[in-house]
Amino acid sequence: MRVLERLDELYAIGGGPGANRPHGSAAEDEAHRLVAAWLEDADLSVEVDVHGNLFGHAPGSGPVWVGSHVDSVPRGGRFDGTLGVVAAIEAVERVGAGSVVVFRGEEVGCIGSRALVAAGDRLPDAFLELHVEQGPVLAERDAALGVVTGIVGYARGELVLEGQAGHAGTTPMAGREDALVAAASEIQRVRDAALGIAGAVATIGKVEVEPGGANVIPSRVWMSLDVRAPDVERLDALVREIGFEPGYRVEPAQFAGSAPQALRDAIEARCLSLVELASGAGHDAGILAGAGVDAAMLFVRSLNGGVSHSPDELSSDDDVALAVDVLADALAATTR
Ligand code: HGY
Ligand code: MN
Ligand code: MN
Repeated sequence: MRVLERLDELYAIGGGPGANRPHGSAAEDEAHRLVAAWLEDADLSVEVDVHGNLFGHAPGSGPVWVGSHVDSVPRGGRFDGTLGVVAAIEAVERVGAGSVVVFRGEEVGCIGSRALVAAGDRLPDAFLELHVEQGPVLAERDAALGVVTGIVGYARGELVLEGQAGHAGTTPMAGREDALVAAASEIQRVRDAALGIAGAVATIGKVEVEPGGANVIPSRVWMSLDVRAPDVERLDALVREIGFEPGYRVEPAQFAGSAPQALRDAIEARCLSLVELASGAGHDAGILAGAGVDAAMLFVRSLNGGVSHSPDELSSDDDVALAVDVLADALAATTR
């Protein structure tokens, strides 16, 4: 199936293990060039906007977009983002309407979609995004597909701990101002803050230690912070409890327009069980929904316990084929 072959071609960019197409890298650019060639092969008019987002417009298309992203986390999975892009090409080709969109920098804060929304000059009437679930719910419910009800809110920022550099061998333990020991307490405190708020999560994914010598007491530690919660109140409480100034924040989004209904109708028309679920992962669809666009997301079942942001990310060929069919059905209904 062409979708699977194209997933493999994108997965091979950037070398392994896993997908390695970080935003701003030559690999992300190479992936955009490859997709642009597929858009041309599909006789779509190719456009790159000022933010670097890639479009493929079917002739005479009304403003209905379908797509996702091709940038990845380090050692990411074969499906995250890329499935939504290659499926969008299939759907627009089958339906003969709509525009494929590939947003830049989804993994580093939805840079492309946030810039487009902030510019406010061109928004679609509707946006559809197919994405791998990245969680265990559909597998637990024995469902191939799910319609997303909404996306958690999230805030990203950093924590910095200062200490005093010193000799690892001659500085008594009692006199140390070890920034990394202080960071260890902070990491526990962040974890406990999230545990104390229902549905909240907090992650410190990157730590940088200065000066970075094995025989030097750390003088400074920088840590990334990613916190999320299902609603504004709990996100506010989590940020307040941890006590940091977010670099940026994306409010929780709800998918409640006619586009999600088109997905539900398409699933029911195929006599598939309808499962609806929220997303703990952020997506470009959430950014567009936050700007008032009638956005919708279709999840395809994740196998391997729902693991994602890992080379172990997996969805079955049959589920992928079904997801493309339902996405095309919903696009046809939305562009009619
Ligand atoms: O981090 C996220 O939620 C998404 O995978 N970018
Ligand atoms: Mn993604
Ligand atoms: Mn991701």
